[in-house]
Amino acid sequence: MRRILIDADTGIDDSIAILYALASPNLRVEGITTCFGNSGAAQSADNCLRLIRLSRCGYEAPVVAGAECALDGGRGQAPAHIHGENGIGNVILPESRQRPLDMDAADFILQKAQELEGELTVVTTGRLTNLARALQKDPRLPRRLRRVVCMGGCLGVPGNISPAAEANLHGDPLAADLVLRGGFPLILVGLDVTTRTFITEKNLLETEAHCAERSREAVAYMREALRLYFEFHRRTEGMAGRCFVHDPLAMLIAEDPSLGEYKMLRVRVEHEAPAFRGMLLTDGRFQSGMDHDEISVCVRVDSDRAVRRLFSVFQ
Ligand code: RIB
Ligand code: CA
Repeated sequence: MRRILIDADTGIDDSIAILYALASPNLRVEGITTCFGNSGAAQSADNCLRLIRLSRCGYEAPVVAGAECALDGGRGQAPAHIHGENGIGNVILPESRQRPLDMDAADFILQKAQELEGELTVVTTGRLTNLARALQKDPRLPRRLRRVVCMGGCLGVPGNISPAAEANLHGDPLAADLVLRGGFPLILVGLDVTTRTFITEKNLLETEAHCAERSREAVAYMREALRLYFEFHRRTEGMAGRCFVHDPLAMLIAEDPSLGEYKMLRVRVEHEAPAFRGMLLTDGRFQSGMDHDEISVCVRVDSDRAVRRLFSVFQ
């Protein structure tokens, strides 16, 4: 059983990653911190509370609302046509009685890391602002964590927010730079693999047909929320009845890293030149100009196995 803390900007794909984590018998969600991105951090926290209720997972994972802006004060948010006005495809889920914890998200991450010394995996599916703030508060954090898995970045494929950058790194490039060269035992799951992995209409139909009773509401929610996300992929990528698998893939890899193949690289994130904001910079030279620790960048993934596993927990 892996003990995980999720840091999310709870949009449609984040919500599927969260529902997966709550349903998987191999994962225990020790807490969820939220960040601005697909919607505001407070809205994301409210989405998480409703998703926990919807999941019928049998426990109340604590939720903490985190950063409403980037380290440099920027507040750029995704337009509503991607994840809806509320981040979860405009679906109105039943309200939860659970309330968010009234504490700083960075402090919550530090507290959990200390409590679960060496055991906690942090999975980030949004901007890296909360994790960067936690690192700034306590530089010992990387040694306390078992692993960090981040959805973000692109190496050999174009970005999705600019030619050079992926949305999560672009949204707070300074935080991303601090985290990716911060000495964490880190796996980066970027567009190179997430845009090679698809959820299709057929996956949803099959999951519905074989759905476990306890997952019926969660699966109905996914279907409804994904309508908007499929439409966004149709308009921007010319894809019919399918979408990329960004955040759920990071969650699946956190659970089982054998799904991917990795390149060890020293990376930095550009945060000064506006045209290259959020771009991953690597230095693979034998005598590298970068002297911080390497991270594992996922360069290939077994997409079929990943998607089969994603839906298997709801059946
Ligand atoms: O670039 C994909 C990422 O941006 C995902 O985390 C998605 O939820 C959006 O935030
Ligand atoms: Ca996200």
